[in-house]
Amino acid sequence: MALWGGRFKGKASLQFKKFNDSLPIDYRMAVQDIVGSIAWAQAIHEVGVLNDDELVRLTAALEELKASVEENPQQILLSDAEDIHSWVEIQLIEKIGDLGKKLHTGRSRNDQVATDLKLWCKETGGDLLFALVNLQQAMMNLAEREKDTVLPGYTHLQRAQPITFGHWCLAYVEMFDRDIGRLKDALYRLDVSPLGSGALAGTAYPIDRKALAHRLGFRTATLNSLDAVSDRDHVIELLASASISMMHLSRFAEDLIFYNSGEAGFVEMSDLVSSGSSLMPQKKNPDACELIRGKTGRVFGALTGMLTTMKALALAYNKDMQEDKEGLFDALDTWQECMEMAVLVADGLKVNRSRTLAAAQQGYANATELADYLVGKDIPFREAHHIVGEVVLAAIDKAVPLEDLTITQLQAFSDKIEQDVYQHLTIESTLNKREVLGGTSRAQVEKALATTQSGNEAI
Ligand code: ARG
Repeated sequence: MALWGGRFKGKASLQFKKFNDSLPIDYRMAVQDIVGSIAWAQAIHEVGVLNDDELVRLTAALEELKASVEENPQQILLSDAEDIHSWVEIQLIEKIGDLGKKLHTGRSRNDQVATDLKLWCKETGGDLLFALVNLQQAMMNLAEREKDTVLPGYTHLQRAQPITFGHWCLAYVEMFDRDIGRLKDALYRLDVSPLGSGALAGTAYPIDRKALAHRLGFRTATLNSLDAVSDRDHVIELLASASISMMHLSRFAEDLIFYNSGEAGFVEMSDLVSSGSSLMPQKKNPDACELIRGKTGRVFGALTGMLTTMKALALAYNKDMQEDKEGLFDALDTWQECMEMAVLVADGLKVNRSRTLAAAQQGYANATELADYLVGKDIPFREAHHIVGEVVLAAIDKAVPLEDLTITQLQAFSDKIEQDVYQHLTIESTLNKREVLGGTSRAQVEKALATTQSGNEAI
């Protein structure tokens, strides 16, 4: 049974029906649709559409339906109802007959779907926030565990300066912190109820929309009915938050794929998140990270898709907007799953500390130290940079690190170089000098860890 039909002489083709129906996607909003319906029944009772007894019976039937879908949401998929709103109404009418037909008084599926989706986003947003905080905590645990592990820092994928593994972890802690902020912002802005906006012009019943909004747990109610039913900014903002965060996760994944490579050998992934090759028995592949990197594309696709769907769409509701849910649900599921997988990766990561140290000692990662040493001896930095460039060239020629050049060899490039130069070239000295706020020195890493930890405890 469809919710419409009076105006029609014939039936829709089955092919069109399948094309038009959204139940296979929007059945996930069943509980939200029912919760919204219970609040709506109360609102129309307040303006005299339903009497006390009708409200009680409608509410009881809706509560019963809610318990049933909570227990078995898959039952919905057996129906050929057009969408979740139709499904709920049809069930209601089956349960309580004609009274069920009164529920939709003053309401449109346009304000209903907008409300359901926002309710769904609010709930899912809470789960996503939890996953983000968890992920951030996992990176902090890893940072704590590896705060003394020396790691080569890279630019252009060339060894640049030594850092600690803990410092690398804390870079992601910062990124996830901004992701948390972005998600919270999006959730704050969407926390406004469209219910009572009707099809587009506002309901004709004198509903107290703010009270209705509060009853549903919204911060407030929307101020323009046209906007309320045609706004999908919140979908786009959530997709943007998901995309930015997935971009961070893809960099995390890529870094680890590189660290895990045979060439680098800095880390080993836990067996919990790796697979083997069907042909090559020696292989252990970083699949979890590769899939995180790969799935990032799907999430960006959903964002681009939704922006494109909404572009130049005339006010107010158009059926185009039904396309909002498939991409959103998939993108948020993917984001959630990738965050959980990243936690497994981080928790099980084994760092090969001697390999990371050895790599940090190669590649002339202490060249900047030598330049800074010369600056300390009153040589202007640009000149020092040039001198050290020549020293590096000579060292490459001899295939030795800077600290293996003898003092006489070094003095050939500058007579300001003295015996004390060697202590400046050690990894320890390089790290400890980065004592500035946000730097890689041990003390700074400790401080950053403590600050984020107390910030998270406050959440
Ligand atoms: N299933 C639709 C959607 O997801 C909601 C129904 C609005 N339909 C309508 N004919 N106004 O957007």
